[in-house]
Amino acid sequence: MSIFKEIKPEEFNKSTFKLIGKDWMLITAEKDNKVNTMTASWGGFGVIWGKNVAFIFIRPQRYTKEFVDNSDTFSLTFFDEIFKKELGYLGHVSGKDEDKISKANLTIRHSDSTPYFDEANITIICNKLYAQEIKSECFISSELDISTYPEKDYHTMYIAEVKKVLVKE
Ligand SMILES: Cc1cc2nc3c(=O)[nH]c(=O)nc-3n(C[C@H](O)[C@H](O)[C@H](O)COP(=O)(O)O)c2cc1C
Repeated sequence: MSIFKEIKPEEFNKSTFKLIGKDWMLITAEKDNKVNTMTASWGGFGVIWGKNVAFIFIRPQRYTKEFVDNSDTFSLTFFDEIFKKELGYLGHVSGKDEDKISKANLTIRHSDSTPYFDEANITIICNKLYAQEIKSECFISSELDISTYPEKDYHTMYIAEVKKVLVKE
């Protein structure tokens, strides 16, 4: 089992643009003792309501959304480049159809009751604060609305407090 060290959110000094946008992450949550995960490349970290937060965006058809909606918490995990193939797989197949986590050979661990993966380099444990569906009428760039949502399957944005940042020693 890997050893993770907890650091303060303000000690976390990775580029979000690279970490989320280029390297990708897994969003993982648990519902009724079952864990599901999906790859994500949209999101960020910031500060709102006096709290350190992460924000993520999940389309309605993702199986993971049911898990995130049914739990108070979720994890964001980040991996070494050698796991890129697994992240690609977890981002193309649904947990509705396959036991993705076993097939990707990932090992589930828990921080309190929140699932994450032993193979991750960085784990962020998040406590949900706010969820809101993206609204067509709020787009200032209608171009983006048309190009991103031809099926009108608007993402839900979740803002969650960063409770723990765990890094591999
Ligand atoms: C690189 C990459 C990034 C992705 N980013 C997101 C995202 O930010 N939000 C989202 O809803 N889906 C995103 N997806 C799609 C989901 O990961 C994908 O549909 C996945 O199969 C959903 O699995 P699930 O049905 O088990 O939840 C991304 C896929 C890839 C490959």
